[in-house]
Amino acid sequence: MRHHLDALRAKTNIIPAVNQIELHPYFSQPNVQAANEEQGIITQAWSPIGGITFYAGYDTKLKNVMEDPVIIDLSKVHQKTPAQIMLRWHLQEGRSVIPKSIHPKRIAENFEVFDFELSTEELTRIDSLDTGVRGGPNPDKPPASYYDVVIPEE
Ligand SMILES: NC(=O)c1ccc[n+]([C@@H]2O[C@H](COP(=O)([O-])OP(=O)(O)OC[C@H]3O[C@@H](n4cnc5c(N)ncnc54)[C@H](OP(=O)(O)O)[C@@H]3O)[C@@H](O)[C@H]2O)c1
Repeated sequence: MRHHLDALRAKTNIIPAVNQIELHPYFSQPNVQAANEEQGIITQAWSPIGGITFYAGYDTKLKNVMEDPVIIDLSKVHQKTPAQIMLRWHLQEGRSVIPKSIHPKRIAENFEVFDFELSTEELTRIDSLDTGVRGGPNPDKPPASYYDVVIPEE
């Protein structure tokens, strides 16, 4: 978040090269993206195709973004899959993106996003899906279990 970046800079004078944050159509964090851009930090998306919205057992209030009507509509228009539409949206908006799949066919599919282009209006349609509701942990309230990790001195 912006205040974490500000605190890091104030205490260490370090500006990270990359800030990896939860970022998919249902939670696109425009404020953090703006803070990154102001400081020349690359925004990298985690759960870029909305994995967090459909992982079994994950208690998220978000619907499965793969089934969103706007994403489905754009996938029909461009003859691309919902995953490809979301990946193209990230790339055209200048983000680094690392989708995860255990299936070779999907891994290949997720690379096939350089032969089509979304219009400005189509990008805006996806931007407007932001709900402001995160699926994953809040960086301001990390689960207590995170603090159990011991980092060796050397
Ligand atoms: N920094 C952090 O706190 C943090 C948190 C979460 C994730 N991450 C990282 O971010 C990366 C991705 O995040 P993520 O795994 O949460 O979510 P994701 O990449 O948005 O989604 C992964 C899910 O999408 C499925 N999938 C992949 N390609 C697909 C396709 N073409 N069509 C349909 N379904 C597809 C995968 O299933 P299959 O595997 O069965 O194909 C998996 O269920 C990972 O490298 C992860 O390590 C970082």
